[in-house]
Amino acid sequence: MIRREEIIGDCRLLLGDCLEILPLLGKVDAVVSDPPYGMDWDGKVTVGKGGHGAAGAKAKHYGTKIINDDRPFDPEPFSGIQNRLFWGFNHFPERLSKGRALVWIKRSDEAFGSFLSDAELAWCSSGHGVYCFRDQSLMAETKERAHPTQKPVPLMKWCVQQFPKAETILDPFMGSGTTGVACVKLGRKFIGIEIDPGYFEIACERIRKAYAQPDFFVDQARQIQPVQEQMF
Ligand SMILES: C[S@@+](CC[C@H](N)C(=O)[O-])C[C@H]1O[C@@H](n2cnc3c(N)ncnc32)[C@H](O)[C@@H]1O
Repeated sequence: MIRREEIIGDCRLLLGDCLEILPLLGKVDAVVSDPPYGMDWDGKVTVGKGGHGAAGAKAKHYGTKIINDDRPFDPEPFSGIQNRLFWGFNHFPERLSKGRALVWIKRSDEAFGSFLSDAELAWCSSGHGVYCFRDQSLMAETKERAHPTQKPVPLMKWCVQQFPKAETILDPFMGSGTTGVACVKLGRKFIGIEIDPGYFEIACERIRKAYAQPDFFVDQARQIQPVQEQMF
């Protein structure tokens, strides 16, 4: 069940399996997450074959590995939460209903067309249309990453801002805690769950640091209006 709990500011961080912990949580307003995509990665390093091969090498570097990536993510347990946003849309489209598509363009124009993905897709439960966010910071910062599939903080802030009225955000597959850092910067409450003790520790550290480096724009961020409300 809950193997460890850390409260840091408005963030509640839980070590354990999110599917076991989910029924124990109180009300959350939105789930914003980057779940394992289920690319059948078996823990062996397969650099050069695409997919999570390169991620596997990185994970090994950090002495830990991606867990539960051997089956496609199932969003069903989270369907009771009104607002939902999941990365990896293209890996399990049949499991998601109609909604808005978000695109993270993660490579520069010059780098387009290599064996690595140029972009990633997220599904958002409200609205419709396709919206893009360009952030190539992780291309340059690969060595700085704390997690093999770490997302940039500005990207996750944009994701959280898709739900302007949501006070408490859940990330059940928190990894290195990027969604939590985004919530700290936006002045939202956060619940994060991570099954891997190594990544859990990294997430605690990053969230502590985010509080230690106050963002002067938090108050303005609270005022941010919806990216797009349902129009039709
Ligand atoms: C794609 S990564 C998330 C990376 C994150 N976006 C970041 O920026 O660091 C998914 C994470 O989910 C974790 N995970 C896998 N199965 C889980 C489960 N059943 N409960 C909680 N965490 C799980 C993995 O250990 C991994 O760290």
